[in-house]
Amino acid sequence: MTEPAHLAAVRVSYDTVAADYLRLVVPPEGMDPVSRAVLGAFAELVRETGGGEVADLGCGPGRITAYLHNLGLSAFGVDVSGAMIALARQAYPGLRFTVGSMGALEVADGSLGGILAWYSVHHTPAEQLPALFAEFARVLAPGGHLLLGGHAGDEERHPTSAYGHPVSYASYLLPVGRLVELLEQAGFGVTARVEQPNTQNANRSHVCLVARRAQDAGA
Ligand SMILES: C[S@@+](CC[C@H](N)C(=O)[O-])C[C@H]1O[C@@H](n2cnc3c(N)ncnc32)[C@H](O)[C@@H]1O
Repeated sequence: MTEPAHLAAVRVSYDTVAADYLRLVVPPEGMDPVSRAVLGAFAELVRETGGGEVADLGCGPGRITAYLHNLGLSAFGVDVSGAMIALARQAYPGLRFTVGSMGALEVADGSLGGILAWYSVHHTPAEQLPALFAEFARVLAPGGHLLLGGHAGDEERHPTSAYGHPVSYASYLLPVGRLVELLEQAGFGVTARVEQPNTQNANRSHVCLVARRAQDAGA
């Protein structure tokens, strides 16, 4: 199957920046307390619902996959960037990391207890989000939990460099309300919504949406 243009740009760009991304981006242990608390709440929700495997989609160098593992989850990572996956495997040889697209997962229907997508869906063009969230719903068990963390706003950005390297990916930011709508249309109920202002850019915020796949989904 032909790789969509936006995905090829993400793959090439993150292959280029991977080592410096790891060096420059704060690990989960150093994140702001609210984001860490939401990751902790997500882990607790998944455990309470019976656990099951949790996919960290767009896992990058795997630090958050490992953080979820340390919170008691059976977590594995998927990323389109082979360089990111190589870093993840090197740092966490006991965990499973796979190169792949979060929009076409090699995962059986209804088989996951949870999905984390942390600062990774904003590289998907808005018109493709319905299909992406439908794929998330397909692989989650009924009642399974999704944590979507990332940037919210109302803009499309085409940066030419990031983490000290040229990049060709784009960022497609949507208002929080639109993200909620798209999740609901894909069969999720949003159970928590935490928004923090972006101190560098008043037009953007950091948002965490916790959502649950309907219990009777796919029945
Ligand atoms: C900003 S990084 C975040 C990495 C990690 N979640 C973290 O917080 O450290 C975004 C990651 O998402 C991956 N990504 C973006 N779109 C993807 C897609 N459609 N399928 C798989 N990986 C994707 C990129 O390759 C990149 O590693």
